[in-house]
Amino acid sequence: MDNNVELIEQSALKEIESAASLEQINNIKIKYLSKKSELLSLLQNMKSLEKEQKIALGMKVNKAKETITNALEEKRVALEKEALEKKLQEQKIDITLDGNDFSRGSMHPFNIIVKEMVDIFSSMGYEIVEGPEKELDHFNFELLNVPKDHPARDMQDTFFINDKELLRSQTSPVQARVMLSRNGKGPIKIISPGKVFRRDDDATHSHQFGQVEGLVIDKNISLGDLLGTLQLFVKKMFGEKREIRMRSSYFPFTEPSVEVDISCFECGGKGCSLCKGTGWIEILGAGMVHPNVLKMCNFNVDEYQGFAFGIGIERTAMLKYGIDDIRRFYSNDIRFLKQFDEE
Ligand code: DAH
Repeated sequence: MDNNVELIEQSALKEIESAASLEQINNIKIKYLSKKSELLSLLQNMKSLEKEQKIALGMKVNKAKETITNALEEKRVALEKEALEKKLQEQKIDITLDGNDFSRGSMHPFNIIVKEMVDIFSSMGYEIVEGPEKELDHFNFELLNVPKDHPARDMQDTFFINDKELLRSQTSPVQARVMLSRNGKGPIKIISPGKVFRRDDDATHSHQFGQVEGLVIDKNISLGDLLGTLQLFVKKMFGEKREIRMRSSYFPFTEPSVEVDISCFECGGKGCSLCKGTGWIEILGAGMVHPNVLKMCNFNVDEYQGFAFGIGIERTAMLKYGIDDIRRFYSNDIRFLKQFDEE
């Protein structure tokens, strides 16, 4: 019987050594260590033995059981490790591969112009202020000296939400908002870029476009200050050689009102197709703030004066870059947008 134990142990160890899977390990365990296995049934058959022999055999069987159990465990760990390594090898990610090539975006010409205008006017000490796109009739028209049924409303027909609210047709209502917030106290020096809306749609007019409003209120402000400010703006935006001229015009919220032209950068003033033979290109509207507007916005007209101006953003970009149709700004054609990549 003693020899049997050794033989069983040896054959178990041999089988364990050549086992190649966890399943085989399990089968070997059942074969050698279950209650009905050859090894453990030796214990059942020792009733006939002497006490001492029983003890000796019991110890031997237990020792063999322990050896086989340990060998099985060792092999199980080894096989599991091998399986894990194989799996890791198979799922290895090659992090040295190139990434996908993303094409880089560029700044939209609309935003390039806004940024330039903000830079130019902030360098002159202007504050940047924003106003709501959904505006009250009161601010968009009435406080700007355009009462209900005034014919000047026809020039700026827009989208009404109800009797009192509309999508602002101009950035000028920001003037009234800022003045009212200052309780009659100057100085004010702001620009306000933003979207405006009108019932328009052709190559140079869109139902939505951008404007930059400017407002300066202080003591002793004259038309000369407006001229100097716009001269500086035009030279920084369109180049040192550009000159400006003022033509008299009409806006309900300014008196006097002017339209400002710049000398044509295509022909230098001789006359060409861009300036329609005049040598000048119209770029913005401006004027001295109308006393009615100052009064309605709580400013004392004997103490304060001011000037205001409104510049079209797309119009500025179209002139600066030679863009022929305003609709190109909104059609998201990559070939158009790519041309403004600064790099
Ligand atoms: N709001 C005017 C428009 O949209 C432009 C304008 C003209 C603004 C004269 C001004 C100004 O501030 O003084 O046509």
